[in-house]
Amino acid sequence: MKGDHLKSTKHIGAFIDSKCVGVLSLFLASTDQLSNLSQYQLRGMAVDPEHRKKNIGRKLASFSENELRSRNVEVIWCNAREIAVNFYKKLDFEVISDEFHIPDVGPHYVMYKRLS
Ligand SMILES: CC(C)(COP(=O)(O)OP(=O)(O)OC[C@H]1O[C@@H](n2cnc3c(N)ncnc32)[C@H](O)[C@@H]1OP(=O)(O)O)[C@@H](O)C(=O)NCCC(=O)NCCS
Repeated sequence: MKGDHLKSTKHIGAFIDSKCVGVLSLFLASTDQLSNLSQYQLRGMAVDPEHRKKNIGRKLASFSENELRSRNVEVIWCNAREIAVNFYKKLDFEVISDEFHIPDVGPHYVMYKRLS
């Protein structure tokens, strides 16, 4: 993704026996809905289909949240695909936008979580 190699970008992986089974990336980026807050965008959250529903996504998010807290970041947010909204709700993210469409991907919502 654009910005992958910026120093401010963090890529986090979940590993089982040295095999990567889940990923997410954290980008220093703001959304209009959360102006004035120190914030990072969560992008590219994905877990290997063979390892889903084993809390790997939850652990990736939790690790990321702690990492951002240690840097005094106030908010984590993402553009959640409609099919992932309930997953993010389980992680205590809230919807803060109307539905919007990303071409070739489909309906999305901005979701966020306060870290402090
Ligand atoms: C969404 C995704 C990352 C979830 O990863 P995962 O490791 O399977 O999720 P977890 O096991 O950590 O699930 C945490 C909780 O969310 C629930 N959950 C997981 N996927 C869900 C989904 N698609 N819809 C609703 N709830 C979901 C789990 O049941 C669990 O709830 P519980 O604690 O009550 O049992 C994974 O399904 C995936 O890679 N999907 C394809 C890529 C994608 O859509 N990424 C998001 C882009 S915005």
